[in-house]
Amino acid sequence: MSKLIKKIYIETYGCQMNFSDSEIVGSILQKAGHEIVLSEKEADIIFVNTCSIRDNAEQRVFKRLREFRSLRRKNNTIKLGVLGCMAERLKEVLTEQNIAVDLVAGPDSYRSLPDMLYQVEAGIKTVNVLLSEEETYEEIDPVRLGSNGVSAFISIMRGCENFCAYCVVPYTRGKERSRNPETIVNEAKNLFEKGYREITLLGQNVNSYAWNEPQNSINFSRLIELVAQISPLLRVRFATSHPKDLSNNLLEVICKYPNICRSIHLPVQSGSNTVLERMKRKYTREWYKDRITAIKTYIPDCSISTDIIAGFCGETEEEHQDTLDLMKWAGYEYAFMFKYSEREGTFASKKYLDDILDDIKSKRLEEIIQLQQTLSKQSNQKDIGKIFEVLIEGISKRSKDQQFGRTSQNKVVVFNSSNLPIGSYVNVKITSCTPATLKGEIIH
Ligand code: SAH
Ligand code: SF4
Ligand code: F3S
Repeated sequence: MSKLIKKIYIETYGCQMNFSDSEIVGSILQKAGHEIVLSEKEADIIFVNTCSIRDNAEQRVFKRLREFRSLRRKNNTIKLGVLGCMAERLKEVLTEQNIAVDLVAGPDSYRSLPDMLYQVEAGIKTVNVLLSEEETYEEIDPVRLGSNGVSAFISIMRGCENFCAYCVVPYTRGKERSRNPETIVNEAKNLFEKGYREITLLGQNVNSYAWNEPQNSINFSRLIELVAQISPLLRVRFATSHPKDLSNNLLEVICKYPNICRSIHLPVQSGSNTVLERMKRKYTREWYKDRITAIKTYIPDCSISTDIIAGFCGETEEEHQDTLDLMKWAGYEYAFMFKYSEREGTFASKKYLDDILDDIKSKRLEEIIQLQQTLSKQSNQKDIGKIFEVLIEGISKRSKDQQFGRTSQNKVVVFNSSNLPIGSYVNVKITSCTPATLKGEIIH
C-alpha cells in the first residue's frame, strides 16, 4: 500500500483541554507523514474537534459542519471528520444523512486516526469512540498549533469522575487517569529550552492528580513543585481546581515558588447550599468560603476566578441572591458565567425538571455578569500605582508602538513598546485601567 499523505486542517472548540488535544492529534498525524495546515482552504481533510458542554456549544459546531459540508459538495475530494466530546456523545447523529461526516473519533481514540484515514480514503465511513481507562498520550510531544511561542498547555490528566449533576464531561471523557510525571516534567523542560516561558498544567480537576508507584507517589503539589523547579524564569499555571480538593499543602507550595502564578481558578457554580447539593458538587458554601480565606491568607496577592451557572433546576430567587452575595464576598477578579443547559444522560436530566424559564435564566445571568463587571473593575482600580512583573506576549492589536503581556495574576497589561522580544519579563507600573485591561509604563 502506498503511503497516504494528506493536508489536514483542525478547528477546535471547547475547553483548553480540547485545544491541547488538537495539538496531540496534530503530532500523531505529522508522525504518520501528514501535513497540518492552518486554513481549511488548503486542506484535503477537515477535522472539527468539538465540545458538548452546553447546547449552544454544539449548535455552533453544527453550523460550522454545515458550512464544511457545502465546501465538500463543491470539492468531493475533501473529507470531513468530527473529533472530541460531540463525537463521543452523538456518534449516530453525525454519520446520519443530513450531516454525513466521513470520520468520527472520540477523545481516547486519536492514536487510531492514521489507520482510520486509510479507510476514509477507501470511501469507508469510520467511527472509533471507545473510551479507555489508561490512555494519557503520555509520550506524545504535541505540535504547538497557533502558539505565540511563549505560552503552552500541558495535559496532566484526562477524564473526570465527579459526576456533577449537570455535566456531560464524565460521559464524553471517561474515567479519571493521571499521566506519568516524568513525561510531564520532560515536556515542560523541552518547552522551556525552546523559549516557552509559561505553561499551564491542565485537567478537569488537577488537585486530584495522583501517580502511584511503589517507591514513587506523586500528588499535584509535588508535581507542580517539580515543574516550578525547572527554572525561576518558567511561569507555571494550572486549571481547573475543584474546591473540594484544594489543599493547604498546595497553597504552601505556591507560596514557596514565586514562578507559580498568583492566580487560582476555583469554580463555585452556585453560592447556595441547597443548589450545590442538587448539583452534587460535594462542598458547601461554608467550605468554599474557607478555601477562599485560605488562599487569601497564604497568598495575599492571589487573584481568584470562577465559573457560575445561572438558573439550575429549581433555583429560587433567594438561591440566586445567595450566588450574588457570595460573588461580592469573594470579590472575584474574573468569572465565566453560563445559563444552565440541560444535557441528555446527566443526573439532572434524569432526576430534575429544567424548570427555570429562559427569560428568568437570562435575567439572572445578566445580573451575575453586571456584578462581575463591577468586581473586575474594582479589582483593576486597586492595581493602579502598583508595579507588576509582566511576561511579554506580543504587540498590541490597537497600536504597533505598544506591547502587551500578563501579570502573575493573569491580568493583561498594555504598555509602550520596550522593543524587548516576546518571552522577556519587564516591570510595569500601572497607571490606568479599563474593566478588562491594565495600562502602564515600564520601570527601568
Ligand atoms: N472541571 C471543571 C469544569 C469544566 S466545564 C470544574 O469542575 O470546574 C466548564 C464549566 O462549564 C463548568 O465549570 C460549569 O460552570 C459550566 N457547565 C458545565 N456543564 C454545564 C451545563 N450543563 N450548563 C451550563 N454550564 C455548564
Ligand atoms: Fe464536569 Fe464536575 Fe467533572 Fe468539572 S468536576 S468536569 S463540572 S463533572
Ligand atoms: Fe467541552 Fe469536552 Fe471540554 S465537553 S468543555 S470539550 S471536556
